[in-house]
Amino acid sequence: MTRARILGVGRYLPERRVTNFDLANMFETSDEWIQQRTGIVERRYADEGVYCSDLALEASREALKSAGMKPGDIDFIVFATLSPDHHFPGTGVYLQRKLGITDIGCMDIRNQCTGFLYSLAVADAFVRIGMYKRVLVVGSEVHSSALNYTKAGRDVAVLFGDGAGAVIVGPSDDPSRGIISSHLHADGRFADILMLEIFNISKKPYITHQTLDEGRQYPKMVGREVFKMAVTKIPEVVHEALQASNLKIEDIDLFLPHQANLRINQYAAQQLGVPEEKFYSNIQRYGNTTAGSLPIALSEVLEQGLIKEGSLIMMVAFGSGFTWGATVIRW
Ligand SMILES: CC(C)(COP(=O)(O)OP(=O)(O)OC[C@H]1O[C@@H](n2cnc3c(N)ncnc32)[C@H](O)[C@@H]1OP(=O)(O)O)[C@@H](O)C(=O)NCCC(=O)NCCS
Repeated sequence: MTRARILGVGRYLPERRVTNFDLANMFETSDEWIQQRTGIVERRYADEGVYCSDLALEASREALKSAGMKPGDIDFIVFATLSPDHHFPGTGVYLQRKLGITDIGCMDIRNQCTGFLYSLAVADAFVRIGMYKRVLVVGSEVHSSALNYTKAGRDVAVLFGDGAGAVIVGPSDDPSRGIISSHLHADGRFADILMLEIFNISKKPYITHQTLDEGRQYPKMVGREVFKMAVTKIPEVVHEALQASNLKIEDIDLFLPHQANLRINQYAAQQLGVPEEKFYSNIQRYGNTTAGSLPIALSEVLEQGLIKEGSLIMMVAFGSGFTWGATVIRW
């Protein structure tokens, strides 16, 4: 079977920088509290009127450019987000429209911080079986519209930022290069630990003035539970991926962990016995961009020359659902 490879990578971060000090001017928090617990210094916010698909469009254009392709070359779009333009239709079709193309299939993936890895696995499978040849995979988020900028929502509000990343997945002409394996998991018993419950379809009508007054349009999270599970599941899935690929931890040149919290990643790296410099981090500058986090990181490490042809990388993620996963790639 043909192996699939990432042929191009792009990212887009909105220009507006929001520091911890800016947030401290809006509600009771401090730069010290945020940095100490999360490592975050600043994040980017999209302006009013900017959609998730707008950030995705910029990242996709960059990915296409780096692959030497035009929008018309894409034959499928997989779009990962938890902050879609609208509840329906999916955001993939809006991106397709903005790219100026029609007819190709578009699929939205709703797996939060693991969304990019799920999407990449779908694209990988399409390419390997020969169903599609140029799959655009995008992770994009506009969190800043759905955060509660009061004391009641500060635990979540300080963590998230806006941003998008994109890759083009296609057949590899070198069988030793490409996506080696993907390992995806979920445990729905923890579905309510980190969620946004405003869309409660069991209620008639499903949004009321009361649910708005109760603040259910904002995400809610039991932060400690997320932290605890993340530091358990990340090392677990890293070992699973290593074993399945017949690799040792030292074989991995660079780990690209999802950027949820610097402390989670430091703890996971320590448990795995991986030096911190091999566990990439950019959360200091962007906060948690959920589905955007991994392709943004990938685009940065390529630009910085941290990976080159033949490098072995492992992407690993954990998030709401709970969902988690790891993907091994020979670059
Ligand atoms: C969110 C997180 C940083 C909170 O840290 P914590 O040490 O667990 O803090 P707690 O929630 O127990 O709150 C401790 C205190 O800080 C306060 N606090 C919460 N957010 C705060 C903020 N932004 N600024 C200042 N104080 C804050 C709480 O109100 C609480 O005060 P109290 O002791 O007076 O009640 C941490 O749990 C975490 O990072 N979890 C993982 C979250 C995550 O990664 N989510 C995304 C997954 S993809």
